[in-house]
Formats: sequence, C-alpha cells, structure tokens
Amino acid sequence: MSRLDSFIRRLLAQRACLEEAARLVADLPGPIVEIGLGNGRTYDHLKELFPDRPIYVFERKPQPHPECMPPSDKLFVGDIARTLPTALARMQRRAALVHADIGCGDPVATARNRRKLARYLPAIVAKGTVIVSDQPIEGRWLSPLPLPHDVEEGRYFLYRCVSFG
Ligand SMILES: C[S@@+](CC[C@H](N)C(=O)[O-])C[C@H]1O[C@@H](n2cnc3c(N)ncnc32)[C@H](O)[C@@H]1O
Repeated sequence: MSRLDSFIRRLLAQRACLEEAARLVADLPGPIVEIGLGNGRTYDHLKELFPDRPIYVFERKPQPHPECMPPSDKLFVGDIARTLPTALARMQRRAALVHADIGCGDPVATARNRRKLARYLPAIVAKGTVIVSDQPIEGRWLSPLPLPHDVEEGRYFLYRCVSFG
C-alpha cells in the first residue's frame, strides 16, 4: 500500500472512530479532551461533533492552523506527564471522551507517549469514559470496544474505562 493510501486510511479511521465515540458518549455527561493538537484538524472535528461541550486540549507546543487555536482557559501547554496529573482542578469534571493522537514517526518517542498515557490518563477519566487513540494503551482499567465496521483492526483504537488506574 502506498504511503498516500495508508495516510488516507488513517484519517478515515480517525474520523469513523471519533464519530462512533460521539454516539457512545451521547448520554454520558462530561467534557471532551483532545491530546495532541497538531494542526488542529481533529480538534476542529470534535468542535463540530460537540458544539455544546467544553473541549480541553493538551499539547506541548501549540502551533495549529490559526482558526483551530483553543481558548487559553481550555489549553494545557506542556508535556502530558506534567499537565495531566493536575488538570482536573481546572476541568472540574472528568472527561466523557478522550481522543489521544500523539504517535509520531519515532517509535521510541511513541512508546514513551504510550506509557505516559497509561500512567497519567486515569487522572482525568471516570468509569464509562470512552478513549479513542492512535496507539494501543495498556491497562486493566481499559476494556477494548469494537471498532466501526469499516476500520481495520489495529489502525485505530477504541476503549472504555472500566475502573481507575
Ligand atoms: C500527530 S499530531 C496531532 C494531530 C492532530 N490530531 C490533528 O488532527 O491535527 C501529534 C501532536 O502531539 C503533540 N505531542 C506529542 N507528544 C506529546 C506529549 N508527550 N505531550 C503533549 N503533546 C505531545 C505534538 O507536539 C503534536 O502536535
């Protein structure tokens, strides 16, 4: 498969999983969390999916498209190992949905981020929180959810939080 095809499939999987997650949390109160702002594309999509919910964003170096800069009171700037542990004080409520998209081309850095998610996400989730991720996340507090029918296994990841860390 060409890298172009692979990229397109990744984006289709990302959108399908976010939309499935939005259906899953329709009746679950709580804010939305985006980890990894990047260009702001998925953040922008989350704003469309959740026009009435606060969306908190975690990003170590925010440089999105100018139209996709979150308001400063909803933006946590810094490495998630530093920002996630104390974020609940500002969020006030645990997240209904978390989208984590912090994988990159460097497998060592990606593995480090996976470990950080496994360790620090419990600080902001509750039983029932749905987690959408570009990387697998390990933890007995997570239960995998079925992917949308058109998303290939292993291309994107969907979990429900079943207990805390
Ligand atoms: C693949 S991009 C996200 C793309 C974004 N979802 C979009 O649709 O435009 C990954 C982002 O995660 C951020 N990031 C990576 N590791 C991080 C960490 N440990 N803490 C905070 N941000 C991190 C990077 O700076 C980068 O902006």
